[in-house]
Amino acid sequence: MVSRSGPLNGEVSISGAKNSALKLMAACILAEGTHTLDNVPDIADVALMAGVLEAIGLEVERPAPARMVVRHEGGLQPEAPYELVERMRASTAVLGPLLATVGEARVAMPGGDDFGARPIDMHLSGLESLGATFELSHGDICGTAERLVGAEIALDYPSVGATENLLMAAVRAEGHTTILNAAREPEIADLAAFLNRMGATVLGAGTSRIDIEGVEELRAVSHSVVPDRLEVATFLAALAVSGGELVLRNTRADHIELLIERMGAMGVRISPEGDGLWAMCRGRPHATSLVTLPYPGLATDFLPLLVAVLCVADGTSFATENVFAGRFGYVGELARMGARITVEDHHLVIEGVESLSGAPVRAPDIRAGAALLVAGLCAEGTTEVHGGEHIDRGYEAIHDKLTALGAHVERLET
Ligand code: UD1
Repeated sequence: MVSRSGPLNGEVSISGAKNSALKLMAACILAEGTHTLDNVPDIADVALMAGVLEAIGLEVERPAPARMVVRHEGGLQPEAPYELVERMRASTAVLGPLLATVGEARVAMPGGDDFGARPIDMHLSGLESLGATFELSHGDICGTAERLVGAEIALDYPSVGATENLLMAAVRAEGHTTILNAAREPEIADLAAFLNRMGATVLGAGTSRIDIEGVEELRAVSHSVVPDRLEVATFLAALAVSGGELVLRNTRADHIELLIERMGAMGVRISPEGDGLWAMCRGRPHATSLVTLPYPGLATDFLPLLVAVLCVADGTSFATENVFAGRFGYVGELARMGARITVEDHHLVIEGVESLSGAPVRAPDIRAGAALLVAGLCAEGTTEVHGGEHIDRGYEAIHDKLTALGAHVERLET
């Protein structure tokens, strides 16, 4: 439950990136021994991925806050069960590492979700180029690979998940692999850094061409997860609608250059400070245009948060979603709060209103849930955000962090 708040003031520490932590955990399958991951967020999706790894035969422990130890003593069961994959698509990240180490993988085929159909055809065809074969059996994708052999793979689209799965398979394939039109997200560079520390040879991660020289063995190492740029966007959006002055610790300004530029256009002043960012906002946000694209473009995951801000901007804004066709499930919920948004195909026209009005709303997915929280911060009265379990999938203690900055957020147990 959230009530009109502001201004927000103080310091907040940003957690490690969910989208990196989940893939680093999957990469632990690639080497026997004891892996230590730091800056791992305490969120529901990380717990789910720990469940996937445990089902496969690894041991996962959280000996200290933000630390995770993954023990791999061999003897893996190459199977990610439906109950877990169905709850988190990212569990398909175990496909590449399992094929590379065990030569087999049985992973439930992920179904549709709130972004519409999200196929994994590029994951599968890329792995086939490395020598794997797949069949669909009783809803599971069953992959086998007697040996993986390096190849040149050109992706039709720079898919984050496909690039990661291929990277994790290619590090143990025989010979050289080149991934062309690779995704360039900072989480990919983080995964490559982890793999290289494990003894892999990956060059070019973070650019659209990645070269990998396969090695026979990798070793367990320690690594710290990159900061979560999506959590940064969430706090900047909260600041934009509430006003105030914040310091965001543990951030990487170089990972959010376009976000900083776009938030600047919306009236939020941001500058680097130490290991983080200083940000200030006074007055009503300015209307602007937003277009999502694969990195280094504006992330699709930022859009619901920024749209929530533009709902109360001083004019008409335009937003275009290019990455996930069906990702406007939150628009109807914002409309219930008085937002004036028109959807035309994959475009939004947002007519800024002076104020939103609090209402019961439902979070359809993680970022949309956070966007409704942001909207609630500037809405008159009280907003009840239902479906809070979606928010818990991706945010560590968001309620405590917002409250510490002066926001009126109350967590209701259902
Ligand atoms: C990851 C992120 C997600 C983010 C997205 C885009 C994780 C856990 N999730 O998701 O938060 O919004 O990147 O930055 O890291 N596609 C295909 N076939 C494929 C693979 C993808 O058609 O085989 C399409 C998807 O339907 C989508 C687009 O490609 O339209 C981008 O998907 P992708 O980059 O793969 O996103 P994810 O890895 O699923």
